Amino acid sequence: FKVKKGHQPLKGKHMLITAGPTWEAIDPVRYIANRSSGKQGFAIAAAAAALGAKVTLVAGPVSLRTPDGVDRVDVESAVQMSDAVKNALPADIAVMVAAVADWRPKEYRGEKMKKRGSAPPALVLEENPDLLTNVAAGENRPKLVVGFAAETEDVLDNAKRKRKRKAADWIVANDVSGDVMGGDMNRVQIISEDGVDTLEEMPKMDIAMALVEKMAETLQGEKE
Ligand code: CTP
Ligand code: CA
Repeated sequence: FKVKKGHQPLKGKHMLITAGPTWEAIDPVRYIANRSSGKQGFAIAAAAAALGAKVTLVAGPVSLRTPDGVDRVDVESAVQMSDAVKNALPADIAVMVAAVADWRPKEYRGEKMKKRGSAPPALVLEENPDLLTNVAAGENRPKLVVGFAAETEDVLDNAKRKRKRKAADWIVANDVSGDVMGGDMNRVQIISEDGVDTLEEMPKMDIAMALVEKMAETLQGEKE
């Protein structure tokens, strides 16, 4: 990222970011996961570091290089991601971009399951912790808590409901019914208590910088 020399509006701030998918193991060779490249979360980490923030990036399994100046913690499952998030607090800003698997297999099979010509096994699932809800409700709440909502329909309504339900300050909504997943372009809307801010379609790197600049302005506004 090229930023104006001396433009460090996040200097002295700690930003916690989750990114990528989580993997929920079924047996040693199989898992359940969400579709997520991690690109948008890693871009936000890079932009925040460029603006002077101390950044902790908790990353699920992705194949991306660590942005300059970013502290990265690698995890696999949602439970591990939840622990890493707790360890990384306190933070001034939390940005939960990870596509956390909603459910995990209730039982982990220590040996590879075999077909043996029998009926397919039934997978019994249980719910994972909700990291965003826990961070927003926890003691030591970051001043700005941001969630993401990837939706395929009723994008704004779903995102507004999510903001309330999870007690997030912002929800960044994107419509993933097109070819956003894994691509380099994105189009987002920021839902806050002030209403909806619609950004035009642009590269994920530019979206990241626009979001992080807006976060810096919001924190600055609160001090006065
Ligand atoms: N999130 C989280 N932990 C979870 C699930 C979601 O931290 N176990 C966060 C995501 O990182 C994202 C936001 O919550 O910032 C919204 O995720 P999403 O999957 O859209 O929300 P859900 O409540 O899981 O709703 P849905 O049924 O639409 O998946
Ligand atoms: Ca979900």
